[in-house]
Amino acid sequence: MSKKLQKPFSALYPMPLVLVTCVNEQGAPNIITLAYVGTTAAKPPQVAIAIRPSRYSHAVISQTEEFTVNIPTEDLLPAVDQCGHVSGARTDKFALTGLTPEPATQIQPPLIAECPVNLECKLTQTIPLGSHDLFIAEIVAVHVDEELLDEHGFIDYSKTTAVTYVGNEYWSLGKHLRASGFTLKKSSQT
Ligand SMILES: Cc1cc2nc3c(=O)[nH]c(=O)nc-3n(C[C@H](O)[C@H](O)[C@H](O)COP(=O)(O)O)c2cc1C
Repeated sequence: MSKKLQKPFSALYPMPLVLVTCVNEQGAPNIITLAYVGTTAAKPPQVAIAIRPSRYSHAVISQTEEFTVNIPTEDLLPAVDQCGHVSGARTDKFALTGLTPEPATQIQPPLIAECPVNLECKLTQTIPLGSHDLFIAEIVAVHVDEELLDEHGFIDYSKTTAVTYVGNEYWSLGKHLRASGFTLKKSSQT
């Protein structure tokens, strides 16, 4: 394999693709599409999202310190794309996309009903990184569509059509390949 040396760029792939909601101090909810997203710790469970300081959602999350992470499915891609190209400063994206806000249990921002998995998150740290600021948050509640759960109460990922982001385009997850050492040992610790 012959490789060409490239200038540094954010080359990691695939990226997660999520819809993050927040709500401003007047109670207006917003949705932003994000791909710079990662799981950062298991205990307590934490997630990190990176948002450019110029985004409307950046200001709202900085002020309110709460957001939800909603995992979209293939059929929601038109809404995912819209929420990533329109600003909540001027537009009600729930009205624009037809997505349904649903009350969260621990925080003010709404869940997105159409997404089968929703994480309620409370901000713990903000780290400025240059182009983006990293918001690290504790996951304080998780909602999972009952239809995705197997008989042991675990998510059966074969039942969802989660999507990912690669090379500025939307991709499906493709096919299941094999079990991992963790699943073979029936352990989920990482
Ligand atoms: C697929 C996709 C992924 C995106 N990922 C990010 C991201 O990780 N961080 C970010 O700051 N903006 C990202 N954006 C851009 C924002 O979603 C976009 O600027 C949005 O309109 C900002 O909304 P707001 O003004 O309501 O906050 C992404 C857009 C798309 C379409």
